Amino acid sequence: VLSPSADRVAPPCPHYGTCGGCDLQHFEASAQLAHKRAVVLETLARAARLEPRIVEPSIESPPFHYRTRARLAVDARERGKPVVGFREGASADVVPIAHCHVLHHALAGLPSALSGLVAEMEAPRAIGHIDLALSETADATFPVVGLRLARDLSERDRARCAAFAVERRAYFALDDGLTSASYLHRPCDDAPAYRLPGFDLRIAFDPGDFVQGNAGVNRAFVGRVVDWVQLAEHGEVLDAFCGLGNFSLAIARNESGGTRVLGVEVDRGMVERARENAKENRVGGVEFLVRDLQDAEIALPRKRFDVAVLDPPRTGARALIERFAAERVPVLIYASCMASALGRDARVLADAGYALDRLALVDMFPQTSHVEALARFVLEHKKRKTR
Ligand SMILES: C[S@@+](CC[C@H](N)C(=O)[O-])C[C@H]1O[C@@H](n2cnc3c(N)ncnc32)[C@H](O)[C@@H]1O
Repeated sequence: VLSPSADRVAPPCPHYGTCGGCDLQHFEASAQLAHKRAVVLETLARAARLEPRIVEPSIESPPFHYRTRARLAVDARERGKPVVGFREGASADVVPIAHCHVLHHALAGLPSALSGLVAEMEAPRAIGHIDLALSETADATFPVVGLRLARDLSERDRARCAAFAVERRAYFALDDGLTSASYLHRPCDDAPAYRLPGFDLRIAFDPGDFVQGNAGVNRAFVGRVVDWVQLAEHGEVLDAFCGLGNFSLAIARNESGGTRVLGVEVDRGMVERARENAKENRVGGVEFLVRDLQDAEIALPRKRFDVAVLDPPRTGARALIERFAAERVPVLIYASCMASALGRDARVLADAGYALDRLALVDMFPQTSHVEALARFVLEHKKRKTR
């Protein structure tokens, strides 16, 4: 660095530079968000020649201790000295983490505590990785620990894990990746869950399930999606890549009777839990289906949608976007975790005659270069000449 930028700050975390988790800690937090907004605007302009009509206020996050879900790596190659932490940038090495600055306070000390637990175990190599999450009730939070196992644990190792969970008032589950998680300990009777108080929803999850990584931001994120649905009276809504029903349940709760919401997701277990979540929260007008949405020939039970929400993985949703464009779905709400994929998909929409009506940045992962954005596309009637 010859001449430091005015936005350069001292990274607070001692692991900065080796840990692959945070790569922007040297960048002042509000400047990070402005930079990410510029990246998305520039990508949409360059890839799709689209400019949003309205850039809405960003959904902001506290800069530290926001993260409510994480996957920890375990390196048990050296006997008696297992390391639990995050992977180094582009390497298989694991950085031991004493105290993480971005994990929620209830989770921040767990990487090092779990390192101690794994060091005492007879067969630490049985552990593939460890999922951490946060379960919320109206007035308390509980850590959720899920061990992803390559083979079963001995009775002694199970007893060690259960004792660890009791001491820390944590959910502790074993997950073989095939069946639902089995719990060694639960600090309360209910399954772990996060809450969306604005919609009176409690969304139960299994430790390995996809849940948004920043529970505080997620509450505002869901609220923004629901605001953008804006059905005149009632209609048909598709929630593609719906996970546990994060958006679908809130949309169905918010809309008047007569609106039907269809959530579609590839993971069978999450679809089962989404259906259960609808039942437990007494939300009507919503259905969930298991389908692979990257399959261009995919059959859906309804032919026409007034609004489609989509929240695809980093690869984007090319097949689905082409189908929406061909079927002339009037409004698309696209939650993107990868600006380049959003740019590619937006170009298909622009060529089919969609305008970019609104855009908002979602500060899901401060201190990291991950960019999350929400875009609303509306169908205008003329198709653009393809270039
Ligand atoms: C970014 S997450 C969004 C989940 C949900 N919208 C939420 O807010 O919690 C993407 C979801 O897409 C699902 N998924 C990935 N590939 C898929 C595919 N080919 N077809 C359908 N769903 C898929 C994942 O299992 C995951 O639940």
